[in-house]
Amino acid sequence: MYTRSEIIGWGHYLPKKIMTNNDLAQIVETSDEWISTRTGIKSRHIVEDETTSDLIFNAAQMALSRAGISAQELDLILVASITPDNTTPSVAAKVSNRLGTVSGTICFDISAACSGFVYGLTMADNMIRLGQIKTALVVGAESLSKIVDWTDRNTCVLFGDGAGAVVLRASEGEGTNADHGILATKLFADGSHYDSLKTTGGVSTTKNAGFVFMDGKEVFKFAVNSLSQAAEDVMNQCGVTSQDIDFLIPHQANIRIISNVGEKLGLPEEKVIVAVDHHGNTSAASIPLALSENIESGRIKKGDLLVLTAMGAGFTWGGALIRF
Ligand code: ACO
Repeated sequence: MYTRSEIIGWGHYLPKKIMTNNDLAQIVETSDEWISTRTGIKSRHIVEDETTSDLIFNAAQMALSRAGISAQELDLILVASITPDNTTPSVAAKVSNRLGTVSGTICFDISAACSGFVYGLTMADNMIRLGQIKTALVVGAESLSKIVDWTDRNTCVLFGDGAGAVVLRASEGEGTNADHGILATKLFADGSHYDSLKTTGGVSTTKNAGFVFMDGKEVFKFAVNSLSQAAEDVMNQCGVTSQDIDFLIPHQANIRIISNVGEKLGLPEEKVIVAVDHHGNTSAASIPLALSENIESGRIKKGDLLVLTAMGAGFTWGGALIRF
């Protein structure tokens, strides 16, 4: 008997307002042609009168409904986000109250930028396998439009808002790759790249959140290598190769990064999930959004072998191998 964390529910939510590249061209000097060819992004969703906790609440409700469980069954709510409603308490605690969890349910947020969901999945998986909890809601959610400088064309064209969630539950496996659930995870970070991708402010420095800043070229190069490394690491842990993989779900930052990673791993295009075209880069939300959308559409099926790989500010990066 071997304890696994199985994905029993999935959910996603996108704010209603869609901003196209042509809409952006009315705000900053840019064009659909520039954004499409450099990034693969055509449109993104932008929050209007909602907050990050509203996005999470909606994604969580869908995930609980797909899992067929109530919020009272959750032992943990873990949210990955760099755009919470308040600096403290956690947005996880805010959502737990709205969902109606029982008193005692563990709630916390983590800050690992675009790798946040993979970090969160790893934390929750470890707690489940240690027997500390049985059922967890893991969410990636962002309102990045609130920390984007809408006069800076270098960054404002890249990001979008949304939330994605999964419900994990302890299940008994055989300890083989045929088990359903999380088969391997691996996390990395290298703080020497702190200044390459960051916000220009923070609570203990400028007393405000600041705006997203990045060295695009450095991030690009690092992203291709680190996303590939994390994917290879989790596949190697389980002795599987690209040929065994049904779908790669990479962080959705840029189509050129995604294609480069797919090629490096030797995966054909049809096995690489792309959502950046209609989501933009939603940081911690990007992987669970893409995952949930593709399960819901029927493209990802029960039993498929999935590799998740993410990279973000810090730099942080990491991967997960999952039998859905
Ligand atoms: N519209 C039109 N022109 C633009 C825009 C825009 N939105 N943004 C920049 N430009 C201009 C620049 O000013 C520059 O003009 P110049 O040559 O006259 O100075 C020209 O386009 C080229 O700019 P570069 O920065 O060299 O463009 P590059 O080919 O590097 O593409 C990009 C920029 C798309 C950001 C690229 O560096 C990239 O993909 N980086 C990866 C980083 C990324 O996706 N980050 C997301 C967050 S990080 C993460 O999620 C992991």
